[in-house]
Amino acid sequence: MKKEKNKILKFPEGFLWGAATSAHQVEGGNKNDWTGWEKKNAKRLAKEAKTKWATWQQEKFPEMFDPKNYVSGRACDHYKRYEEDLDIAKSLNLSAFRISIEWSRIEPKEGKFDEKEIKHYRKVIKAIRARGMEPFVTLWHYTLPIWLVEKKGILNKKFPEYFARYSQYIAKNLNDLCEFWVTLNEPSVVISHSYIEGIRPPQKKNLWLAWRAYRRIMRAHNLSYKSIKEASEKNQVGFANHIKYFKPYKKNSVLDNLAVWVAGYFGNWIFYGLSKNKNDFIALQYYFRFRLKFPRRMINENKDFTDLGWEIFPEGIYYLLKEIDERYSVPIYILENGIADADDIKRKKFVKDHLQFVYAAIRHGVDVRGYFHWSLLDNFEWDKGFWPRFGLVEVDYKTLERKIRPSAREYAKICKNNSLVL
Ligand code: BGC
Repeated sequence: MKKEKNKILKFPEGFLWGAATSAHQVEGGNKNDWTGWEKKNAKRLAKEAKTKWATWQQEKFPEMFDPKNYVSGRACDHYKRYEEDLDIAKSLNLSAFRISIEWSRIEPKEGKFDEKEIKHYRKVIKAIRARGMEPFVTLWHYTLPIWLVEKKGILNKKFPEYFARYSQYIAKNLNDLCEFWVTLNEPSVVISHSYIEGIRPPQKKNLWLAWRAYRRIMRAHNLSYKSIKEASEKNQVGFANHIKYFKPYKKNSVLDNLAVWVAGYFGNWIFYGLSKNKNDFIALQYYFRFRLKFPRRMINENKDFTDLGWEIFPEGIYYLLKEIDERYSVPIYILENGIADADDIKRKKFVKDHLQFVYAAIRHGVDVRGYFHWSLLDNFEWDKGFWPRFGLVEVDYKTLERKIRPSAREYAKICKNNSLVL
């Protein structure tokens, strides 16, 4: 794939330009499975930073040694400041905005729904619409209510039914305000981080449990799909999939190629097999490329990296879009793509390079309908805490002041013109 030069790349009319967020990462003041886990593990995570990160990362982000970095606390205080944040999103010419609903707020006790909280999210979604943006609503972005965790969380046999009941309640109460629904965020990440690597709650490293979690999660999606469609046939429903671009470390190695096939099947595609005919669109979330040297993942030497050490590989998004298009014939939305870049020196190029490949895929017939940058704000990056900075907008966690980054202004131009100038 060659990059184009000296051109104006015009995106299709109606293409959605957005930014994505998730409740726990920005809202603040949550009480869910993560909040307890964060407090319990903060000191350990701060201590482990010494061995986990490279010297340049340790020097650049000394906050990784502070246990406070690992506790979400008030996060960006977005729960209270959503109007201000949506004003910023509007000022960046966004035409779509992705949020997630915090399950533990809506159903703090089993089967008891909190009307005050649903009213809150109604206000938020109305505020998104009032600013001319199309809302995309995720029902579950990693965090679980405490009552559910006390009953084994995802591993509870009835998990799919619990999720369907919650979905039904949400769909009934928000149906008049949105059309685009994302049932779950990144099943592959939930499974790999919680049950294969065992680094996120509930930290159970067990392949048998991982397999059970796979099936429960996808059944939960299927039931949720049904509930949302029952609320209205016009609703568009899908789940957000972290689709990784895998390459063999050595092109001709049979074992490396086998590793790529297995990783692709279990990491990317199995979920569609388990949710046949229950995806009105495919939501691609793309961050990096993995090279596999059987049986493990390799760091790519001498490549361009983000602050997290992730390889920047814009071309990957083109190959994945093409592959999705060959496998499935539904529209595609890119619901996350972004970079941890505290100094904002790589973000502008990152966005433009990725969009160039998105454009190439569209020109080659792939039905891509929107691009959402991750994220609007710097936010709480799960087990890594606050130091990775993914925001188009910088957040000062002491004063909570927001500052639009220069790269965001560039993105705003693209959104405004619906085109990318090379
Ligand atoms: C997740 C986000 C996360 C981002 C960057 C995505 O996989 O959905 O919650 O912050 O990646 O790591």
